[in-house]
Amino acid sequence: MYQIKKICCIGAGYVGGPTMAVIAKYCPEIDIKVVDINQERINSWNNEDLNKLPIFEPGLSEIIKNYRGKNLTFTTNLVDSIKEADMVFISVNTPIKQSGIGAGQTSDLRWVESCARKISEIAIGHTIVVEKSTLPVRTAKTIKEILFDSNDNFNKEKSFSVLSNPEFLAEGTAINDLENPDRVLVGGEDQKAMLSLKQIYLNWVKEDKIIFTNLWSSELSKLCANAFLAQRISSINSISALCEATGADISEVANAVGKDTRIGSKFLKTGPGFGGSCFKKDILNLVYLSRYYGLEKVADYWEKVVEINSWQKMRIYEEIVKKLFGNLVEKKIAILGFAFKANTNDTRESPAIDICKNLINEGAFLSIHDFKVSEEDISKILSMNNQSQWEYVIDLYEAFKNADAVVILTEWERYKDLDWKDISLKTKRPFWIFDTRSILDPKKFEKLKLNLWQIGNGYKND
Ligand code: NAD
Ligand code: UGA
Repeated sequence: MYQIKKICCIGAGYVGGPTMAVIAKYCPEIDIKVVDINQERINSWNNEDLNKLPIFEPGLSEIIKNYRGKNLTFTTNLVDSIKEADMVFISVNTPIKQSGIGAGQTSDLRWVESCARKISEIAIGHTIVVEKSTLPVRTAKTIKEILFDSNDNFNKEKSFSVLSNPEFLAEGTAINDLENPDRVLVGGEDQKAMLSLKQIYLNWVKEDKIIFTNLWSSELSKLCANAFLAQRISSINSISALCEATGADISEVANAVGKDTRIGSKFLKTGPGFGGSCFKKDILNLVYLSRYYGLEKVADYWEKVVEINSWQKMRIYEEIVKKLFGNLVEKKIAILGFAFKANTNDTRESPAIDICKNLINEGAFLSIHDFKVSEEDISKILSMNNQSQWEYVIDLYEAFKNADAVVILTEWERYKDLDWKDISLKTKRPFWIFDTRSILDPKKFEKLKLNLWQIGNGYKND
């Protein structure tokens, strides 16, 4: 086994930051540098005010408070951090390619390649390079080629092992997921390097949860896990439409189906469609890979999961327009939640984006509230042109003043228990509540004379 005394993590994002914070907590003897090219992000990670960390995750600020400045450092000093590291994690963004071959489908690997080049140039001695980012299958081959070519050609004194160690954390529960993972996957060829990484995790993860595989199985398993999770959401969302059409209730159907232990109850919650930076990207990667290997039917199959997801957002928007008499001009709609799920400030691929853009396009004025997403972030997404068609409110009750409708898009806990009696005095009539997260109890609304529409509630929506 190699002795790991110093770790460098390239990429101080939603994965790099929390993952390294947890390693720092459980491995006080390991010195960890988290590096990023984004100076602003690093400044935020170093902010004295823990409310200003660049990402919001329950439990994260406590760990940062205890370990930052001890064995956990956030820095832009890439060169020194790589030079001294025994192990380098690549945890950079891998978004969908915007142009060229594979545009709109495969991942843009420019940031990963740039990391590999930097590591190959700067590293000294033996360095274990760990893929933490989610990558198309066989990316480890590219990384190896970059690392070993430079090694062969220029400097015989450095050597590398490449491992795949995909991350399965979900935003909003990242710290808990990292501290209590269902499994830790280590893919590789060099047993000594694999055991070294395993040794780190053994500080807090039970041995039977640490799985060794070959590199390609590890890379593919990550894409596959996300695809399977997303597939469940598209499955339940497709059935939600059928519930509305037939008078069934999706929560009752999901409960009945999920009680079958072979199916299980998790990830059967209907909603406005899955968001987040990864599900769509990872499925599209799977689709691209399948087509690349001539497996058209496999590609078509997975593509449908994304198609249903887009359709779910579209049909919610259409339902809102329909219920508001086909016209949104001069109508005010309160939007509760802009994050792609509760307990995060992340808006990447949030269903709120498409739904809000469509409502604005239809002529509505939106009054948007979220507990963690900032006005600045929303502004970047909805663009300046539409500034006159939306506002950001800090007091969520403000959003209801003279509103024609409210759309609940994120399931923040505090939206579950609003004072609807008070709200009903502020709004216009008729007033519609579109609960896309099924967080409200329909019984409460019967006396208030507020119209409630809930996804998949065929009985109520009759
Ligand atoms: P992110 O965009 O939040 O963070 C990536 C960071 O890498 C950015 O701050 C960026 O500035 C930095 N970076 C890019 N190139 C760099 C370079 N050459 N040198 C230094 N820094 C560089 O992304 P993320 O959400 O943390 O995701 C990272 C990877 O992890 C992706 O592949 C993603 O698919 C995967 N993943 C994400 C999640 C999640 O919940 N967000 C979960 C599991 C896996
Ligand atoms: C997801 C996976 O759960 C993680 O295991 C994975 O590591 C991560 O993607 C990744 O690779 O990025 P995340 O996107 O953070 O995590 O959050 P999820 O809890 O999976 O939710 C994704 C989306 O699906 C959200 O928009 C959520 O509201 C939606 N969702 C989730 C539903 O609509 N219904 C459900 O039952 C569950």
